[in-house]
Amino acid sequence: MTIQTSSLTPKLLDNGVIRQAFPVLQEVTYLNVGTYGLMPAPALESFQALQAEFESRGVASNGGFGRQTEATRKRIAEMIGGSSDEIAFTRNATDGINLVLAGIDWQPGDEVITTTEEHEATNHPLTYLRQMKGIGVKMVEVSPRPEEMLARLEAVVSPRTRLVTMSYITCETGTRLPARAISDWAASRSILSLFDGAQASGAFSVNVQEMGCDFYASNGHKWLGGPKGSGFFWGKRDRLSDLYLAHVGAGSLERVDIPNGVAVAPATGHRFEFGTRAWALSAGLGCSLDWLESIGWANVYGHIAALSDYLKASILARPWLKLITPLAFEDSSGLTSFIIEGKNAQAISNACRERHRIYLRVIPHYNAIRVSTAHFNNPEDIDRLMAAVEQVKNE
Ligand SMILES: Cc1ncc(COP(=O)(O)O)c(C=O)c1O
Repeated sequence: MTIQTSSLTPKLLDNGVIRQAFPVLQEVTYLNVGTYGLMPAPALESFQALQAEFESRGVASNGGFGRQTEATRKRIAEMIGGSSDEIAFTRNATDGINLVLAGIDWQPGDEVITTTEEHEATNHPLTYLRQMKGIGVKMVEVSPRPEEMLARLEAVVSPRTRLVTMSYITCETGTRLPARAISDWAASRSILSLFDGAQASGAFSVNVQEMGCDFYASNGHKWLGGPKGSGFFWGKRDRLSDLYLAHVGAGSLERVDIPNGVAVAPATGHRFEFGTRAWALSAGLGCSLDWLESIGWANVYGHIAALSDYLKASILARPWLKLITPLAFEDSSGLTSFIIEGKNAQAISNACRERHRIYLRVIPHYNAIRVSTAHFNNPEDIDRLMAAVEQVKNE
């Protein structure tokens, strides 16, 4: 089966050498970077060296972590089509989402539109705001098709809608939402737009200019293979200053006049970076970018697309499996979810892990199994998964 993709050429890598950088692959079939990514051994080694230098020498260190952090900021900006001063380092994707949700001066009755397929990263803070600030939360079902999404947004929008916040790639069905259409729709109504890129960055080419959104929050620890605790946030330059700062401290203000009570925050991503931070984690993300760039982004993205196509074809070839992820890669990404008719997904996943050492994610909402096809996975991983699922479902 060939699935057409407009943006890239799906092509499997001969990734035997790449796989050697992930020793755990000798023990297990790892199909879940959508939960925790794996750091390639050379990146882990460089990251640990940077961290050791900083932690063991403090101000007497050679400053490599600082230089590498700023270089990483620049590379992230280039990777997503933003500029360095629009980037803030965060702890994870949730952190970036919270910069926006805590940065709006909500009034009781203000409204937010989100989807029914959001991660806790979005629906927990929204529920909290609903309780604490009296905002209204409207949810729409997801679709990769712009006209469907816009019709759903039109059905729930109100004069009180202030923000549209949703995943770029949803964590349940792995649907790629039509970011451009949604952002343009929002902007034409003076509504802010925020996309959660936790499952997007590193899985395919993300460009915030093409998305047209106001804000983009991501982590570094899934598809980018960075350290846990690494993440980044991007905001359109003329929107960053609109966000109220819930946290302020050393490094986050450009001018302070304590006697006169003047505090001026810069109109850049630095406004969100206060106090002593986990700079080695941000720098460590750069070590993972070195790895991915050494393979080549086009190769990484092409492999993820081709392996995702291979997995979807394997699912469609088995009538007892039901694919719930959009078929085309351009409507989805490296996450593929399927239902095993008449079976409990959690039980199947447990059996795959216990008996076959295959690591998957369960999506309870749909009683589905979710598979992540990363640049280090190969068709044999998928064949092993299909054989295991067939075996355990018959037991
Ligand atoms: C769509 C989505 N958003 C957010 C998250 C949470 O990311 P983080 O732990 O980096 O905040 C996840 C996965 O864990 C996710 O799938």
